[in-house]
Amino acid sequence: MEIIIQPDALTASELAARFICKFIRQKPDAVLGLATGSTPLLLYKELCRSNQRERLDFSRVQTFNVDEYVGLPPEHPCSYRHYMEEKLFRHISIPAANTHMPDGQADDIEAGCDAYERRIQAAGGIDLQVLGIGSDGHIGYNDPVSSLGSRTRVKTLTKEKREEQAYAFGSLQEVPMYVVTMGITTIMESRQIVLLAFGAQKAEAIVHMVEGPVTSLVPASILQMHPRVKLFLDEGAATFLAQKEYYRWVFENRPVWQRW
Ligand code: PGA
Repeated sequence: MEIIIQPDALTASELAARFICKFIRQKPDAVLGLATGSTPLLLYKELCRSNQRERLDFSRVQTFNVDEYVGLPPEHPCSYRHYMEEKLFRHISIPAANTHMPDGQADDIEAGCDAYERRIQAAGGIDLQVLGIGSDGHIGYNDPVSSLGSRTRVKTLTKEKREEQAYAFGSLQEVPMYVVTMGITTIMESRQIVLLAFGAQKAEAIVHMVEGPVTSLVPASILQMHPRVKLFLDEGAATFLAQKEYYRWVFENRPVWQRW
C-alpha cells in the first residue's frame, strides 16, 4: 500500500487527479471504477478541469460505479446516477453508453447484480477503482462483517445510514431500504485502487485499515492484500498512523519512474 499524506484535501485530490489523468493518457480506453459521497468531489472537479483545459479525452473511457439505490429512478436527485451526471459525466466528453451503474430498478434485482459482474468482465475488468471509506471502515456499501468474498449484491441500509439520508430525501420514509453494491471481491479484482480519505473523522478507520489486522469488521483492511493500492490522505485522516513518518519518507524518495 502506498500511503500519500498531503497537507489538505485539495492538494491530495489534485495529486490523485494527476495520477488518474496520466493513467488515462497512457490507456485511453481505461475502465474506471467510481464512487460517490463527499470525498471524491474535489477529484471529480479536477478531472472536469483536465477534460476542459487540458483536453483529456474521456471518449473511450468506460466507468462502473460502486453502488446505486434500489427502486430509485436515475433522474431522482438523490440517486447516485444523478450525482455522477452532476459532478462528472455531464462536464466531460464521455459517451453516456460508457457509464455504467448497478441496476437498482431491475425487475429481478439479483439477476441484475450478476449481470453487472458480467458487464465488468466483458469490459475487460476494472483498471483503476476510485474509493472512499466510511468512518466504520466500509467500502462501497460493504459494511462491517460483509463477506470478504462478496460480489455485487443487495445490501440493507443501516438504520443510522437511513437517518443520515433522511434530510436529503425529505423524510425517513422516502429513503430506500436497499442498495446494490459491488462486493469486496469485485473491488479486489480491480487492477489498481485509489482510495481517498479526508478529515479527522476518518482517522480511526484509516489506522485500522492500514495498520490493523485484516478483518471483515473493517472491510477496507482487505486492501492490505491488494498489490496496487494508493491511499491519498490529508493530515486529519492520517492522525493516528503510527508509521506516518516512514510513509512520508518513502513517498518523498520514491524512484523517478514511479513519479507522476
Ligand atoms: P463520504 O463517504 O465520502 O461521504 O465521507 C465515504 C463512504 O461512505 O464511502
